[in-house]
Amino acid sequence: MKSLTVVDHPLVQHKLTIMRDKETSTGSFRRLLREISLLLCYEVTRDLALTTKEIETPLGPMQAPTIAGKKLVFASILRAGNGLLEGMLDLVPSARVAHVGLYRDHDTLEAIEYYFKAPDDLDDRLVIVVDPMLATANSATAAIEKLKERGATNIRFLCLLAAPEGIAAFQKAQPDVPIFTAAVDSHLNEKGYIVPGLGDAGDRMYGTK
Ligand code: PRP
Ligand code: URA
Repeated sequence: MKSLTVVDHPLVQHKLTIMRDKETSTGSFRRLLREISLLLCYEVTRDLALTTKEIETPLGPMQAPTIAGKKLVFASILRAGNGLLEGMLDLVPSARVAHVGLYRDHDTLEAIEYYFKAPDDLDDRLVIVVDPMLATANSATAAIEKLKERGATNIRFLCLLAAPEGIAAFQKAQPDVPIFTAAVDSHLNEKGYIVPGLGDAGDRMYGTK
């Protein structure tokens, strides 16, 4: 399928610019990420199937629209994925949550797994994998492979920033998984950071550098 959706809504772009600014504080960075995640969640769920159910309004019965199928799964790639996860859960409080703990080895840029916990029945649910950054795509690919091993077949990947190199690698490795992002930046630097990017998302969220 190889689909790529860039969410170019003015509010998303405005908030992203403030997040990129190196003078933005840790607290503001976290708040903005949560706000953007609401808007991104709106886009990534835009085409969910609806069914109807019978309800009673104060004026009488109605066949009213409601989301069809089983509850969604949001899969957060730790740590920084949690910044997107929290806002998404505000919008879809009934979603199930998977956590995939991964960090990038600084030298090889390979993703090292340290934690995995997911609902059992991934096979008949839409799984939306969230991580603010798609750089080399090693982390996203490792997380999605693990989710597929556990039965997930219907997967979307949602991030804030993507590098062209990461998009190409991701689409080669996971051609069936659509990507949603707020921006596609210029390139990766020699250390695998997105340029111009916003720096290290986890460090900026949690003030660890
Ligand atoms: C960051 C980010 C992604 C990964 C992206 O996490 O949140 O998970 O890098 O890079 P990649 O596409 O090259 O794999 P990091 O490894 O810094 O871990 P952290 O969230 O714990 O800080
Ligand atoms: N991870 C980040 O947090 N930032 C980047 O630019 C690349 C990977």
